[in-house]
Amino acid sequence: MKKNRYKSNDSNKVWGGRFKSSTNRLMEEFNSSIEFDKNLYIEDIEGSVVHSEMLARQKIISKRDYQLIKTGLNKIKKEIDNKKLIFSSKLEDVHMNIENRLIELIGDTGKKLHTARSRNDQVATDIKLWLRKKIDDVELNIKSFQAILIKKAEHHYDLLMPGYTHLQVAQPVTFGHYLLSYVEMFGRDRGRLIDCKERMNESPLGTAALGGTSYPIDRNFVAKKLGFSKPTSNSMDSVSDRDFVVEFISCSSLISIHLSRLAEDLVLWSSDGFNFVKFPESFTTGSSIMPQKKNPDSAELIRGKSGRIFGNLISLMTTLKGLPMTYGKDLQEDKEPLFDTVSTIQTCVKIMSGIIQDLEPQRKNMLDALQKGFPTATDLADYLVTDLNIPFRNAHQITGKIVLLAEKKGSTLENISLEELRSFIPNADKKILEVLKTENSIAKKTSYGGTAPQNVKKAIIKAKKTYLKD
Ligand code: ARG
Repeated sequence: MKKNRYKSNDSNKVWGGRFKSSTNRLMEEFNSSIEFDKNLYIEDIEGSVVHSEMLARQKIISKRDYQLIKTGLNKIKKEIDNKKLIFSSKLEDVHMNIENRLIELIGDTGKKLHTARSRNDQVATDIKLWLRKKIDDVELNIKSFQAILIKKAEHHYDLLMPGYTHLQVAQPVTFGHYLLSYVEMFGRDRGRLIDCKERMNESPLGTAALGGTSYPIDRNFVAKKLGFSKPTSNSMDSVSDRDFVVEFISCSSLISIHLSRLAEDLVLWSSDGFNFVKFPESFTTGSSIMPQKKNPDSAELIRGKSGRIFGNLISLMTTLKGLPMTYGKDLQEDKEPLFDTVSTIQTCVKIMSGIIQDLEPQRKNMLDALQKGFPTATDLADYLVTDLNIPFRNAHQITGKIVLLAEKKGSTLENISLEELRSFIPNADKKILEVLKTENSIAKKTSYGGTAPQNVKKAIIKAKKTYLKD
């Protein structure tokens, strides 16, 4: 039994009938995908069981054949689960390894399984079945991460910090508001994953090699039984496109862009220059030479992994772009970028969840940095417009001069005296001093989506309803 499986003579291969000489050894390794597509064995068996059931219902094989095939396939699943089945690269891929084992187990009946299908529709089906589950997993991971962000935002809904543009202090915001901005980004990411899953959820099985089949198969039955919304409409499209994989890796690329930006903020904010956050020690590492160091490697790796995911996207798009219709073995190159993307993105989301959960914002440092950046300059200009009827452009000029004075004196805007202010704005009254206070500035940012702490409180309630319900 084993002897046949490993013999190099190609007449023993399932496709060996028309071959006179055997495959080059290097070619055999080069051609084989079993090392990675063994990941798909559960889905491959699931698809084969339903396919054989359909063949029996349509009287293409007998009920007994179906029972034998089903029992054999379930046994193979257990063998693989328990690492009992040794895969062979001579048998190329997961599909042929399983089929070969079935024939070993149940004899000639096993040879009937591949009736009315091809590996081309089989592999497309397997990937869809596999990816569908993974999309659910990733989506759920992101949902849990959003819950952590929202909880953190709840704790710090009114914690003042500088908001930046051009990485320069712009206006005060709250840490809670900042965290909720990521809740929105990851919310859209989840939406994209759900769309992607829905669009790809059509069954390719039964489109066979490329043109369909002359057997009286029932593709609707197979589609329904495998949880697809319907069968795909065009057999050539079914076996040759991997747009659904591209779409998923694109979704993952956006997730990793968002994670990477968050990671970048955390790397900056945990550095000595900022000191806005204390990075959880459990997600940092030390230096082999500098004893004082505690490096935010986890965030740096998340930032770095985004390059890897974009690479996977480019890799697959390049594979697809020049592919003549329909199937070409190039398509075997779809799996590694996909598998790598799924595991990378899942790990990154989980690691970032852990970081945010235990991250400790440093209130005092945030406030100090805020004051140094003249963050209420816009409020002052707005006050000159609304209360003193000065046109905005002039108000902007005057405020600029006051900032210059504060800068010269090494003072914050809040510490400029009324007399000094009056040298620029003769009719200014005491109210101007209130305008320059950061907590007053932020309390006024009540426009929808703005950062006033009271707004943030409401936004948290809304975010819970939108993103955390079942
Ligand atoms: N291992 C192959 C793949 O991943 C399965 C399909 C093989 N089809 C073929 N016509 N050789 O694409």
